[in-house]
Amino acid sequence: MENRIVIETEELTKVYNSEVAVDHLTFQVREGEVFGFLGPNGAGKTTTLLMLLGLTEPTSGKARVLGVDPVRDPIKVKGMIGYMPENMGFYRDLDAIQTLRFVAELNGFPKDIAEERIEKALKTVGLFEDSKKKVGAYSKGMRQRLGIAELLIKEPKVAFLDEPTLGLDPDGTNRMMELIERLSREGRMTVILTSHLLHLVQRICHRVGIMIKGKMVAQGPMEQLAKEKLGVGAEKYTLEEIYMKYFKEA
Ligand SMILES: Nc1ncnc2c1ncn2[C@@H]1O[C@H](COP(=O)(O)OP(=O)(O)OP(=O)(O)O)[C@@H](O)[C@H]1O
Ligand SMILES: [Mg+2]
Repeated sequence: MENRIVIETEELTKVYNSEVAVDHLTFQVREGEVFGFLGPNGAGKTTTLLMLLGLTEPTSGKARVLGVDPVRDPIKVKGMIGYMPENMGFYRDLDAIQTLRFVAELNGFPKDIAEERIEKALKTVGLFEDSKKKVGAYSKGMRQRLGIAELLIKEPKVAFLDEPTLGLDPDGTNRMMELIERLSREGRMTVILTSHLLHLVQRICHRVGIMIKGKMVAQGPMEQLAKEKLGVGAEKYTLEEIYMKYFKEA
């Protein structure tokens, strides 16, 4: 049986001034999958995520996240989704625990639940040892992991990760991807991930969507796209080849 759909859009469109950023986008993400949301700079990926979160209003079209309309009920959607934005900001003078306590307070979690979740999240992302260090002294990789911890304390069923490996070194990048895979596998989290690192996307994603100039030009399991676009079977392709083929045709 196919997993249920947790995110769906229908002809979702966003026009900024007179520029079309997202152009009649229709796609679905199913429960438990890691969905690789790909596309060149300026394709409209972040704008799509912002519309799904109720952080910016669509010009037209519809979206549903866990059955909720983000235009009508943005607060409910924000409560259910974990979001790690492209540029995560932190208070430099707080340590990791204080940072997460602040987030827990904003979300209205009772203190005992908050403390429990904070410890668990810090352990999951491997920051427990450094949790008393000021965030201003954190490396880029540590800050990115704190971003994931911040998201985890909400215990969301769905997470949007907008370029979570940006600026990380190769080892940090690998560890971030492994962490995401583990959250999906063990935590059964549905993840939408934007990334330009196609070899890593190929390793951890179940399905991908390729967005070019505001349009989703392809979506599906990578093997299926490889068969359709390259005419080769499983294991004989790279996601990079598939992507470049769509990119050149667009
Ligand atoms: N607040 C805004 N006001 C006006 N135009 C915007 C705004 N945000 C995004 N855009 C435009 O919308 C288009 C899509 O941008 P978006 O940030 O969604 O792309 P992206 O796919 O996330 O790119 P990247 O890979 O660089 O992060 C771009 O042309 C961008 O200039
Ligand atoms: Mg973006």
